[in-house]
Amino acid sequence: MEPDKRRMEQAYDNMAPGYDSAVGPGIGALMRQLLGDMDVGEAPVALDVACGTGISTFALIENTGGKGEFHGVDISEGMLEGARRSAEAHGLTNVRFTKGDAENLDYTDAKFDVVISNMSLQFFPDKPRALAEMHRVLKPGGRLAILFGAGPMFREVWEVLGEAAARRPEHPGFAASVEEIKAMHIGLEETEALLEGTGFEKTYVYARHRLVHYEPEFIIHNIPYAGCWKIALPGDVLPEVVEELTERLTESRTGKGFRTTWYVILAYGTKL
Ligand SMILES: C[S@@+](CC[C@H](N)C(=O)[O-])C[C@H]1O[C@@H](n2cnc3c(N)ncnc32)[C@H](O)[C@@H]1O
Repeated sequence: MEPDKRRMEQAYDNMAPGYDSAVGPGIGALMRQLLGDMDVGEAPVALDVACGTGISTFALIENTGGKGEFHGVDISEGMLEGARRSAEAHGLTNVRFTKGDAENLDYTDAKFDVVISNMSLQFFPDKPRALAEMHRVLKPGGRLAILFGAGPMFREVWEVLGEAAARRPEHPGFAASVEEIKAMHIGLEETEALLEGTGFEKTYVYARHRLVHYEPEFIIHNIPYAGCWKIALPGDVLPEVVEELTERLTESRTGKGFRTTWYVILAYGTKL
């Protein structure tokens, strides 16, 4: 597996135990927005790409009244274990969670009526390839619905991280990982071009943009994105950097916490 994917896998394996309580409610709300603009159809054969602990898969299942055949694929076994436990707890027998890479889906061509992916496309290093795989596994007439962090997502957090990285030239991996995280956030035009370049038709792409306020500790410890850069630092340097960042985020906080920008793109397409 490529090093950046292994880092991603490790980051989510580490986050898996606390994931549902840290971000579950927010992720569930995003998923309802994504489904709100989609006709899932009757009893679909559906795939959730980068399903994590299954929050998005379970929302999709609920949306169809439980009827259909559901598959979830994710690169992190830790996240998948959570998904399988929840499926068992809810007595669901028509869902299967499998380890795999979004850029190399292990499913036959034209298997699915619906492919969804929630808060994950930003993480795929080769987005055209991931979208081509989603297109390949859809049946003709099948529908894609994806939501992901994009554009200026957490811009203010990256500024603080970038400044901290600049003060630590002895750890070029730190600055490089901040740049990598910024670069993974694409914009509306690029999204539309990517979908259409992949062969999706009837595309519909829009963004939701809002301000959010977080406590510095929350940003440091709980935002999954923040977990990604930690991996790129040597373990002995991490505590000092976390201390410095907490200080910086605290200095820049408003009365309600550290203000940052939340920006997600919702994108839909059909395979004709
Ligand atoms: C923010 S979580 C979202 C999980 C889930 N979709 C949800 O709505 O809760 C991002 C997920 O993407 C997964 N992921 C990242 N890169 C991946 C890849 N190349 N292939 C499959 N899964 C990947 C991570 O393991 C993680 O579970």
